[in-house]
Amino acid sequence: MRKKIVAGNWKMNLSIADGVNLVNEVISKLPSLPEQAHVIFCCPFTHLDRVSSSVNNTGNHQVHLGAQNCNDKASGAFTGEISIAMLKETGVDSVIVGHSERRQLFGEDHDFLKRKTDALVAAGMHVLFCCGEPLAVRESNKQNDYVANQLSESLFHLSAEEMMASITIAYEPIWAIGTGVTASTEQAQEMHAHIRSLLAHQFGEEIAQKISILYGGSCNAANAAELFACKDVDGGLIGGAALKSETFLPIIEAMC
Ligand code: 13P
Repeated sequence: MRKKIVAGNWKMNLSIADGVNLVNEVISKLPSLPEQAHVIFCCPFTHLDRVSSSVNNTGNHQVHLGAQNCNDKASGAFTGEISIAMLKETGVDSVIVGHSERRQLFGEDHDFLKRKTDALVAAGMHVLFCCGEPLAVRESNKQNDYVANQLSESLFHLSAEEMMASITIAYEPIWAIGTGVTASTEQAQEMHAHIRSLLAHQFGEEIAQKISILYGGSCNAANAAELFACKDVDGGLIGGAALKSETFLPIIEAMC
């Protein structure tokens, strides 16, 4: 059975106190999660240590601490960067790689994302690997090739075992991120099925059926259930709606 995942990506939002309150509130009202379901809080670096205590206190192995970025190098003169070992030390077990904001605003290219992925896989971390096309690509109906290229450039050098053990894919069409324009269930399912067929072609059908593919982009309490009901949508990577328990909890419930 594929893992179902709802991950909150807080981006550069919330004070530490607000973040801790949010996590405590979500945990205290958490519905009982099916065996294969997981919730991940991807916090800013300064919040990780405090949020880690809240997550650990639950004793619930289905609630995880995630980071939004890391560097591929183990240590050294990399001002402003953070290592995987540092993240692990705070209790992080999942890291977002390849978010469109890091690709577009911070110039992260396929090769850097590949190196980060490799370092995370080697460290036994769970990678939330993001892909997704800009509006112009969608308008010219080239989204399938665009996403295929993102995956093949940074991910498809991994072995089937590594993919299965470490990788979750998040499809986040850039035109849907923070815009209030959600992909339709048809658009989401079509792309997720495409991604699964790429996985099957590269790693075999059995492996492809075991890798979770999340949807992200203006996913909210009102549309999560119908998106998650799509055959190849295994949960969501949530931005704005992950910042309040009232909006995040119904999305978790939609996965249950
Ligand atoms: P929104 O849910 O705010 O559209 O953000 C999605 C996202 O970028 C999650 O990584």
